[in-house]
Amino acid sequence: MPGLRIEGYVIVSADGMLASAAHVMPDELKFKGDKQFFTAALDRADLIVHGRHSYEDQPNSPLRKRIMLTRKIDGVAPDPSNPKATLWNPAGASFEAACDHAGVRSGTVAIIGGPDVFAMFLDRYDTFWLSLAPRVRLPDGEPCFPGVPAQSPQQILAAHGLSPGDAQILDSADDVSVTPWRRAA
Ligand SMILES: NC(=O)c1ccc[n+]([C@@H]2O[C@H](COP(=O)([O-])OP(=O)(O)OC[C@H]3O[C@@H](n4cnc5c(N)ncnc54)[C@H](OP(=O)(O)O)[C@@H]3O)[C@@H](O)[C@H]2O)c1
Repeated sequence: MPGLRIEGYVIVSADGMLASAAHVMPDELKFKGDKQFFTAALDRADLIVHGRHSYEDQPNSPLRKRIMLTRKIDGVAPDPSNPKATLWNPAGASFEAACDHAGVRSGTVAIIGGPDVFAMFLDRYDTFWLSLAPRVRLPDGEPCFPGVPAQSPQQILAAHGLSPGDAQILDSADDVSVTPWRRAA
């Protein structure tokens, strides 16, 4: 859909993990500066897209339009538990059909995980905001993209045509930063 700008958001450990082995985001990956950055981005977005376990659970979450991926339905359906949410199974309907159902045809879409959902949009991101916590290691954790840790998240983003811009420090005490990976115009 040409009117949509696609942006991705994740924070990863030094070894490229977004969650623990138990598929839970551990406290070690939670930083005030990154949370403020992520919250502000979601407040600006017109639509949020995520898998069933990646709900951001913030005070403004009920205000946000979202598409949630699930195999529990065939294509696209309203979420009976949330009037602002659309359920989507990519095996049965296009992303455009899901956006249409959500009533969003232009603006910014924030993709917020998990790994398979991030991977589905690797060739479509305008910008992927990669936050990095370099002092945290989660050796048995859940990789942010399929293919990590054999390849780093940065190598995967580069292989999909994205290039890094200037990093911005989000938490100086722990050297946490965010780097925008942008597609050449
Ligand atoms: N560090 C970070 O920035 C960050 C970012 C995102 C997530 N996380 C954390 O990472 C963990 C991610 O959990 P997760 O691995 O379970 O991923 P998830 O994508 O949030 O949830 C997986 C579920 O989403 C649905 N889904 C995913 N891909 C699908 C597809 N192609 N087609 C249809 N349905 C699909 C399925 O739901 P059904 O079972 O209903 O079919 C699947 O069971 C969570 O703990 C989350 O908090 C961390």
